[in-house]
Amino acid sequence: MGLIPNDVIQQVIERSDIVEIIGNYTALKKAGRNFKALCPFHNEKTPSFVVNPDKQIFHCFGCGAGGNAVGFIMRQERLEFPEAVRVLAQKCGVEIPETQAAPSSPSRELKEEILKINAQAAAFFHDMLLGSRKDDAKAARDYLRGRGVNLETARKFQLGFAPDEWDALLKYLRSKSISEELIAKAGLIVAREGKSGHYDRFRNRIVFPIADVQNRCVAFGARAMTDSDGAKYINSPETPVYTKGRHMFGLQLTRASVGKLDKIIVVEGYMDMIMPYIHGVENIAASLGTALTADQIRLVRRYTPNVVMLFDADAAGQAAMVRSLDLLIDEGMDVRVATLPEGQDPDSFILSQGLEAFSARIDGAVSLLDFKFSWLSAQHDPATVEGKSKISRELLATIARFKSEVAKYELTKVLAQKLNVPEGILLKQADGQQRVPVNTTKAAVEARPPASIEGAQELLLALFLKDHAWVKAAKEKIGPEDFSEGLIRRITEVMWPLAEEKEEWSVNDLLVRLQEQTAQSLVTGLIDVEEKKLGDPALVFQDCVGKMRREKQKKARAQLVEAIRQAEAVKDTEKLDQLRQEFNQLLQ
Ligand code: CTP
Ligand code: MN
Repeated sequence: MGLIPNDVIQQVIERSDIVEIIGNYTALKKAGRNFKALCPFHNEKTPSFVVNPDKQIFHCFGCGAGGNAVGFIMRQERLEFPEAVRVLAQKCGVEIPETQAAPSSPSRELKEEILKINAQAAAFFHDMLLGSRKDDAKAARDYLRGRGVNLETARKFQLGFAPDEWDALLKYLRSKSISEELIAKAGLIVAREGKSGHYDRFRNRIVFPIADVQNRCVAFGARAMTDSDGAKYINSPETPVYTKGRHMFGLQLTRASVGKLDKIIVVEGYMDMIMPYIHGVENIAASLGTALTADQIRLVRRYTPNVVMLFDADAAGQAAMVRSLDLLIDEGMDVRVATLPEGQDPDSFILSQGLEAFSARIDGAVSLLDFKFSWLSAQHDPATVEGKSKISRELLATIARFKSEVAKYELTKVLAQKLNVPEGILLKQADGQQRVPVNTTKAAVEARPPASIEGAQELLLALFLKDHAWVKAAKEKIGPEDFSEGLIRRITEVMWPLAEEKEEWSVNDLLVRLQEQTAQSLVTGLIDVEEKKLGDPALVFQDCVGKMRREKQKKARAQLVEAIRQAEAVKDTEKLDQLRQEFNQLLQ
């Protein structure tokens, strides 16, 4: 990866708007001059993630993560600094001059290529569905019409049709000069067994493109049009741009409403998302087949902590839902469960009963405890001793996953009532039952800057950030080497030359030169300190610089004392005289 010139980095930062960039990933709500959101980097229910449009920085008061637009992309997309700059440069149309022998990281380039191929494939399938005069395409249109999907819906979701041929897509993409190898890496074709060459993965099927929240096509699901035609769905395999269980189908269309309504309805299938959506349900997305994964839950949590699970009313659906519930608690989500009449799924229900009945089901969603209790009661009779004991064991394990002790206590009380046993017994049982370790979010731990930085130095740094005149004042009394080793010193080492170079510099000028995530977080955290902790700046300055100078003298004295001891040991009288003189000077 070639070095990106500083002025180009600067240009990228100037051209991109942090509000717009972060808004692509999480729902921002205006709060005074700033914007607030649920932090995408740690688990929380009330927003402590703040974006400051004036300074073009973000900071989370929950986990301490902070930085500028580049820092955000680094964390979010798990990229190195130069890669993150490239992503932003592309978004805001800044050209990065390539220095010689500087190809961008191969995996990144491959991802870009696959996304491009996917987009072309989606366009091809879509065109086949709407444009082709062939009989099989007509059958596909009829199939969709029969399921209540009109033209507008097909366009909205870019639904497509994979023709009943072995190589329709392969030929098309080859005609666009795309190599067979790349098409295979995108998962669109399958290698022939025992022969060279490939054939189309999706044939004679309705195609559902799966997008990420930035509306890039990452994979496809393809449905057979008759029951006899093999597996009901064939999906893309995992590829460099697609990992199963990382995305939520439809969320790219609904995420803004999910944030606004502060609630998401999670369903299982493609059609379970599409049909309610076109009937007017704006806050819905699908998990695509299985139980929710931790990745999916974290994705959802960027927009809201409130989830209503609405899975198929069959055994498989209910079991997938139960599996999801524990994870949802671990991730600190507020979950309710809505149910449907026997044999129905959200798609069939809204088609037959309409939006109002659908909304009533959502409003009637029950608490997780209520749901799990009825689900367990269907398997074990709660009137019998054995049933009580089985149900209580399972549910106490679920309750133990809640983080709040109050919640645990309240839920245990409710369970006691339901089982008709004294709550004391359950509380005792809960104590004896092994605790399930609660998932700590890795990001939250990583994001917290080390706590071992001296308060005085932090405060001084905060002062520098608030009013640059203090940097000049400090330079006369102390040097960067007087700061304790580590983050603060590294920040000072960057900040002081910057102050030398530029009369007027912004936080972002500093962040661009810092690049390090933990250093960025510390800086954005200190910028907030200005309003809260900083008292009279002159006093703070005097106090902090005074402390640091005393510290410096103490160290110097300790060094001298040590040197004197050594000189005494070897009886170097000349050296001893000189050292004693120095020592006396220090004391004055
Ligand atoms: N699924 C899958 N592969 C299968 C079956 C199901 O990937 N062989 C996934 C699909 O995402 C599907 C979801 O699981 O949408 C739910 O499965 P199911 O309830 O069987 O299908 P429906 O979504 O109800 O599909 P349809 O209404 O078209 O029958
Ligand atoms: Mn269905």
